[in-house]
Amino acid sequence: MKDHLVIFDTTLRDGEQSPGASMTKEEKIRIAKQLERLNVDVIEAGFPAASPGDFDSVQAVASVVKDSTICGLARAVANDIDRAGEAIKPANSGRIHTFIATSPIHMEKKLRMSPDEVVERAVWAVKRARNYTDNVEFSPEDAGRSEPDFLCRVIEAAIKAGATTINIPDTVGYNVPKQFGLLFRELLERIPNSDQAIFSAHCHNDLGLAVANSLAAVENGARQVECTINGLGERAGNTALEEIVMAVKTRQDIFDVDTRIRTQEILAASRLVSNITGFAVQPNKAIVGANAFAHESGIHQDGVLKHRETYEIMRAEDVGWSTNKMVMGKHSGRNAFKTRLEELGIEFETEQELNDAFGRFKELADRKHEIYDEDLQSLVTDNNIQRVENENYRLISLKVSTETGEDPQAEVTLWVKGQEVSALSYGSGVVDATFKAIESMVESGASLELYSVSNVTNGTDSMGETAVRLEKGGRIVNGQGSDTDIVTASAKAYINALNKLESETRAHPQTTV
Ligand code: KIV
Ligand code: ZN
Repeated sequence: MKDHLVIFDTTLRDGEQSPGASMTKEEKIRIAKQLERLNVDVIEAGFPAASPGDFDSVQAVASVVKDSTICGLARAVANDIDRAGEAIKPANSGRIHTFIATSPIHMEKKLRMSPDEVVERAVWAVKRARNYTDNVEFSPEDAGRSEPDFLCRVIEAAIKAGATTINIPDTVGYNVPKQFGLLFRELLERIPNSDQAIFSAHCHNDLGLAVANSLAAVENGARQVECTINGLGERAGNTALEEIVMAVKTRQDIFDVDTRIRTQEILAASRLVSNITGFAVQPNKAIVGANAFAHESGIHQDGVLKHRETYEIMRAEDVGWSTNKMVMGKHSGRNAFKTRLEELGIEFETEQELNDAFGRFKELADRKHEIYDEDLQSLVTDNNIQRVENENYRLISLKVSTETGEDPQAEVTLWVKGQEVSALSYGSGVVDATFKAIESMVESGASLELYSVSNVTNGTDSMGETAVRLEKGGRIVNGQGSDTDIVTASAKAYINALNKLESETRAHPQTTV
């Protein structure tokens, strides 16, 4: 009988800390529901003390998700712990994750606290969290650069105070697999009460080693891994859920553990997170990249056709890949539409939402004859993305023209804070002209950091998904849009980014209070 490896997903917390990846409450709920379908054990839904919006999001996720434990992050201070405790209250099963830095550099330069004070605060924080739930996780932040003797001391005290999970973060992605694995072995052997808690690995990918380090931890006794969909996360990101799960599943000959993940839901989760954040998945990304199961060379194709296992170690279907299926067309009815979306894990709260979505589907079917699963997902995601809370701007209409030898032009009409406004601009292309027209009305002063377009299926009639990244005063936001017309998709993405730029600001968990 294998040990259970707890999969702790932090896409909605550490993933969201990635610059530009911030998500609205609705977006978080959609991702959380998909994580529940994946059957992750724990969803870290956010950092409730960051802002009222973050609190609401964690509370909303705690109310809708039934089968996964919902976790809220808290620094080792009273307000953070109390906010996290309140936010997870509606959950069937709730956890508080509290942390304090333990490396010499963090204690001295960031916290300005002595090691004794840090131990005392850690104990105090765990005890306070236990007033809200008996499921408390403690992290010695920057454990990867902390002294093992001190780690043993603070962890023993935290377990004694009531911590049930001890998470070991390689906060700055500095560790290498052998060293990180040995750290787990040492901690588990030396800490007298280590058997009273589950040890967890939390790795960052600065040296491209997050998955390898997490697996080394598992081989040396870790029974929880913290990870994110597509490896989203600060800087180079976190351990990728899809990679860790498939490594454990594929190499059952090596690992003494197994997960409960429904791997067939992995691709849908990857696409959803990519659509919502605008962070494209690179084609050669393991498991979820477009080329992950594509065999280009003749020799490989020949081998795979004769006997699949000559070159394939996993089955594409096991992670959710299927050949593009034409699921619907212009004559498909409302029931078929609803049923297919339900199969894709998309549900509507009200009859009105379903009718609106069906209306958009009919419009799309007039323009595009064959509609694939990816088109349906994009259609629904786009509508949710465009509904930013407290939106200030909305696209009403767009007219562009381009002719050889003439300057491309765009005429845009926007709804701007309750009023209809129009502008005409020229640019080096129609997208450039459209952005200039929007900017002339909104005057955001933001700089365009990134613009990208991708098609969700093959063919020139495909839905195009666009991402726009804007920066202003150090704040970075990503906007997304999709449409069969890429200029319209681009305008939607730009406007979506502008709305996000004006949404509330929040505190970062890894700053001192
Ligand atoms: O990387 C890190 O140290 C963290 C902690 C908050 C656990 O994300
Ligand atoms: Zn982290």
